[in-house]
Amino acid sequence: MAKLIRNGTVVTATDQYQADIRIEDGIIVQIGLDLETEGADIIDAQGHYVFPGGIDPHTHLEMPFGGTVTADDFETGTKAAAFGGTTTIIDFCLTNKGVPLSQSVQTWHNKAKGKAVIDYSFHLMIAEITDDVLAELPTMIHDEGITSLKVFMAYKNVFQADDGTLYRTMLEAKRHGALVMVHAENGDVIDYLIKEALDAGNTEPIYHALTRPSLIEGEATGRAAKLTALANSQLYVVHVTCEEAVQQIAEARNQGVDVWGETCPQYLMLDQSYLEKPNFEGAKYVWSPPLRPQFHQDALWTALKNGQLQTLGSDHCSFNFKGQKELGLGDFSKIPNGGPCIEDRFSILFSEGVLKGRITLNQFVDIVSTRSAKLFGLFPRKGTISVGCDADIVIFDPQATRVISSETHHMNVDYNPFEGLEITGEPVTVLSRGEYVIRDKQFVGTPGIGQFLKRETYPSSSLQVTSKQPADQRGTTHV
Ligand code: URP
Ligand code: ZN
Ligand code: ZN
Ligand code: ZN
Repeated sequence: MAKLIRNGTVVTATDQYQADIRIEDGIIVQIGLDLETEGADIIDAQGHYVFPGGIDPHTHLEMPFGGTVTADDFETGTKAAAFGGTTTIIDFCLTNKGVPLSQSVQTWHNKAKGKAVIDYSFHLMIAEITDDVLAELPTMIHDEGITSLKVFMAYKNVFQADDGTLYRTMLEAKRHGALVMVHAENGDVIDYLIKEALDAGNTEPIYHALTRPSLIEGEATGRAAKLTALANSQLYVVHVTCEEAVQQIAEARNQGVDVWGETCPQYLMLDQSYLEKPNFEGAKYVWSPPLRPQFHQDALWTALKNGQLQTLGSDHCSFNFKGQKELGLGDFSKIPNGGPCIEDRFSILFSEGVLKGRITLNQFVDIVSTRSAKLFGLFPRKGTISVGCDADIVIFDPQATRVISSETHHMNVDYNPFEGLEITGEPVTVLSRGEYVIRDKQFVGTPGIGQFLKRETYPSSSLQVTSKQPADQRGTTHV
């Protein structure tokens, strides 16, 4: 049955207007005033915003890490995402040296299959460049549609790749049309600082932050940006936390290097002092890179406002406090890194960003949805509201208020880092390809209905080139 969203205020990254939206077979087929209601399921959006569904470009569902596995799988994680207004996630597919990429991707497909309640895609981790990896990459990118490659510059002896691997990944990404993503911290220096701290008997969670200074996030970000320039490639820096990293991204962009940056709600909202909470509670706030002293938050908000950072990821990587975070009792380096955020990313940005005047409503849509669709080859199928797009739609009450709490959240984890935060604005109804996933704040979706999304190569035709680099030097030349 067709659906008709009536009387809402449609908001995209560029527009805001009153209109009705008609949906048939999962697709937006008509947008206009006073559309015909006959034979349609009517959704009244009076007084509500009608947003494109959020796109979360950074999640870790059912991921083995730190001697345990993240608490949310593709069912609980995507369900919580939908409650929060997100209708597409891009999860990180881990790989292991010596294991075929196709096998790792299959492992990730198996995790998602039959479980996801919204659409999803994968980024592919590159741990090494071997002949086998070189042979498989074109298939991964062109046939599997996995058009983003992730390199870790930290987590020594776990995920970390060396600079040679990073540079060669950039060359391959340029050749085949993929976007290189980096976790930018200097893992070698961190490894030394951790040993030094533990040798001195400094075992508390706060030492997680003190052994990962912002200076070396800035250093790694600058290094990655310079290697990108050398390779004439393209870079997306995940979870930017600090002023130094923002400066490196801004400088590279000013020089015409194709570099993009993501931050996360935790870095906008929480600071380093949270790691000092008593009774080991600081472990709940252990992310890498770590939370920073408060002044960095202003730098991140400013960077979102002025476009030096372009996206917001949740970096959802949930571990229970009981039994999982507790693995680091007596040794901060054993605390599993990461926290839950998939559900709150969208509404926190609206409440703290739009309502506090830090970003505009159109910027909100761009940051929370549209820009990720463009960067990761999903636009215009996803990331906007327009005839022909998937009907991934959030009907959002801008006046509803709620207090974030683990008592009421839908993530499968025993704490919420934003516990007690009062926010205004809440998704009421969420559609994924025209089907209700959330209806009047109740979950009505179906596990397994989410589809794997093959994505376009980089730069997709939709991507607005802001670089000073001439357009003819930027595209993918090889298929
Ligand atoms: O602490 C974090 N960020 N955990 C998830 C893994 C990563 O580095 O993104
Ligand atoms: Zn990371
Ligand atoms: Zn992450
Ligand atoms: Zn190719």
